[in-house]
Amino acid sequence: MHKLKFPKNFLFGAATAAHQIEGHLNNDWARWEKIPGNVSDHRTSEISADSWNKWRQDIRLLKNTSQNAYRFSIEWSRIEPTPGFFDKKVIGRYREMIDELNKNNITPMVTLFHFTLPLWVADIGGFTNRKTIDYFARFAGRMAQEFGRSVELWSVLNEPNVYINKGYFIADWCPGKKSYILGVKAFFNQISAHKQAYISMKKANPRVKVGIAMNMTAFLPAGRNIFDRILSRLARWIVNEYFIGRIRKQLDFLGINSYASYKVQAKKPILSGKIADSLYQLLIEAKRWRLPIYLTENGTPAADVDRQKFIQGNLSQLSRAIADGTDLRGYFYWSLIDNFEWSSGYTMKFGLHDINRQPRKSAKVYKKIIEENSK
Ligand code: FCB
Repeated sequence: MHKLKFPKNFLFGAATAAHQIEGHLNNDWARWEKIPGNVSDHRTSEISADSWNKWRQDIRLLKNTSQNAYRFSIEWSRIEPTPGFFDKKVIGRYREMIDELNKNNITPMVTLFHFTLPLWVADIGGFTNRKTIDYFARFAGRMAQEFGRSVELWSVLNEPNVYINKGYFIADWCPGKKSYILGVKAFFNQISAHKQAYISMKKANPRVKVGIAMNMTAFLPAGRNIFDRILSRLARWIVNEYFIGRIRKQLDFLGINSYASYKVQAKKPILSGKIADSLYQLLIEAKRWRLPIYLTENGTPAADVDRQKFIQGNLSQLSRAIADGTDLRGYFYWSLIDNFEWSSGYTMKFGLHDINRQPRKSAKVYKKIIEENSK
């Protein structure tokens, strides 16, 4: 492996989402996952890793592995269970956690929408209803007001492209409404929701840095012919770039979630084999946005030996991309602990730790790399 090199103050962290780890939730996903057939192992997020109660243990895991950053989401349905009522107790509980992170020199990055909605928002059609744009912006502004002093980095929306694809096109995720019309509506309303959230957050506290966690897929033409090249360019534009282009002026940083890569071939099959250095590719492509970049998610559900290699190999790609001029500021492994993986239930395990918070060997491998590179 080539010698790794990261800038000073580089963030080495892990990511989670409220619905996947907290347990005890009453939102649209909690309702949806109870319907037989919606989750492959017939289990629910009801307890999951119980992080609503065990968050101090989560912080300890970060500490024990020398991580200096944590990306997590705060749950809209808990904070604003009915329109306009902001629950002080819940806000206080998140505040306690954020203060504890800062005290331990762990930089928080907060997500405001990670696939779940309060029931009162879901019941008016979620993001298909334009009213949700205003409700979301009000929530975002309020959160910047509450936490702006202790949280600088905000990955406001998580993976709008995946949310629309899974929730409306494939429809195997909540809200599970198979309709292209509704999906496209929700997609454009999420663009507006990001823009409005940006405005209200900056108004509440100009110090906050507003970003996104966009799922990006590395596409490379399989051959040198013009068809493969056009098709791969088109795929990149639709999947990775369109949404970002529309909100570019309302972004202080770009967050990239990276899981997949394909070679693109005009002949069947359209998508073939994986790309060996997909993260490097994505980062070099993302230079065009001229924004600071964070790898806001990257992980694997594979066996832990493979996870160890995955982490080593990927961090080496990041180091290479930095050497080649990418303004990369941080990396968040998905996930800190095993958790409720949406319609796959508990069958996919991405964690550096298992759901009982026992470290896997990969947690130690990550720790070692962090320690060697944060001197
Ligand atoms: C991402 C999601 C995250 C988790 C990982 C495995 O697409 O943002 O919640 O499900 O995939």
